[in-house]
Amino acid sequence: MLLTCHEVRPETADVTSFFFHSDADVDFIPGQFLTLLVPIGEQTSARAYSLSSVPGEPRLQLTIKRVPGGRVSNHLLDALRPGDALEAMAPAGAFHRDTAGEGAWLLLSAGCGITPVFSMLKERLAREPDADIAFVHSARSEADKLFPAELEALAAAHPNLKLHWVIGDDPRPELLEGRLDAAQLAARVPDLAGRTAMICGPQGYMDAVKGMLSDKGVAADRIHSEAFLAPEVAEAPAADSAQGHSLAVDGIELPILPGQTVLESLEKGGLPIFAACRTGVCGSCKCKGEKDKLESSSVMGLTPKEIEQGYFLACSSTVTGDMALELND
Ligand SMILES: Cc1cc2nc3c(=O)[nH]c(=O)nc-3n(C[C@H](O)[C@H](O)[C@H](O)COP(=O)(O)OP(=O)(O)OC[C@H]3O[C@@H](n4cnc5c(N)ncnc54)[C@H](O)[C@@H]3O)c2cc1C
Ligand code: FES
Repeated sequence: MLLTCHEVRPETADVTSFFFHSDADVDFIPGQFLTLLVPIGEQTSARAYSLSSVPGEPRLQLTIKRVPGGRVSNHLLDALRPGDALEAMAPAGAFHRDTAGEGAWLLLSAGCGITPVFSMLKERLAREPDADIAFVHSARSEADKLFPAELEALAAAHPNLKLHWVIGDDPRPELLEGRLDAAQLAARVPDLAGRTAMICGPQGYMDAVKGMLSDKGVAADRIHSEAFLAPEVAEAPAADSAQGHSLAVDGIELPILPGQTVLESLEKGGLPIFAACRTGVCGSCKCKGEKDKLESSSVMGLTPKEIEQGYFLACSSTVTGDMALELND
């Protein structure tokens, strides 16, 4: 689909929201992301961005943080202007409203990790004004708070939304102190164990928060998180054709070397497969195979049911034996 930028709105010194009109209906579940295909010079780069708007709004909103040295985020913040158009892939991702369910929520975000949970929060309250939601957002400083006016307005209008800011450089006692700790979290949100937690932020923050929640008795199946960084792909061992395996696809047999990804083998064999991000994020290279013969460094965006059915990401998977696979149409 083609997205045309309609408005650019700076949110903080290094975060900007972009509002788009799409040439097609965009059906998404709050919490999901779009993959933008961004041409810069000769090369087109694919990057995932969570939708911070809610379904049904006339415009799609993406809220993007400038990553120091980052190729795409800096380009978008410096160059994308109203009237510019970008290709995007359909929304995807398993970190969303339906994963969180209909019970009491604990939304935890840090920095730009607010985007998916902000969409979930707005949609749930519009549907269910009395929903029981605790929202704890961490920002580096007062000036780095994202969507403060909209969040305060929601908290004022919905008494069952309990909003807590954690401000890194602000020691006021009515705020949670600069760094979230388990005792403070439990004091502000006493019924932690009865909530489903949705966490998004830098990896260190998410690891720390998950540890706090486990220590306070929140069951592992009620803790969900989403990383904004693609998983590390393990260094491939040196290829040795003598030990390779084979892939059977639509009656064609292809060699796959040790350490070679399924994507690399399919591309080398000239088979039609589209891979936008090549880092296990966008889901465009999804295929179906035999799960006991696969080693995958990412299953991002695949649902537990799809994984059970044998779906995997070709860009992030190697095989441990000869395997038959189906390309995804
Ligand atoms: C599911 C998902 C949803 C996302 N949603 C959003 C969103 O709503 N808003 C948003 O701003 N970003 C979001 N991201 C991150 C986004 O996709 C890009 O990774 C980010 O914009 C950096 O891209 P870049 O090309 O500027 O950096 P790159 O050129 O890819 O990376 C440059 C350097 O920065 C590091 N780096 C990359 N991303 C980050 C990061 N987020 N934090 C710290 N270091 C980083 C890289 O490891 C590398 O060393 C999301 C990512 C995923 C996987
Ligand atoms: S190409 Fe994006 S997940 Fe494989």
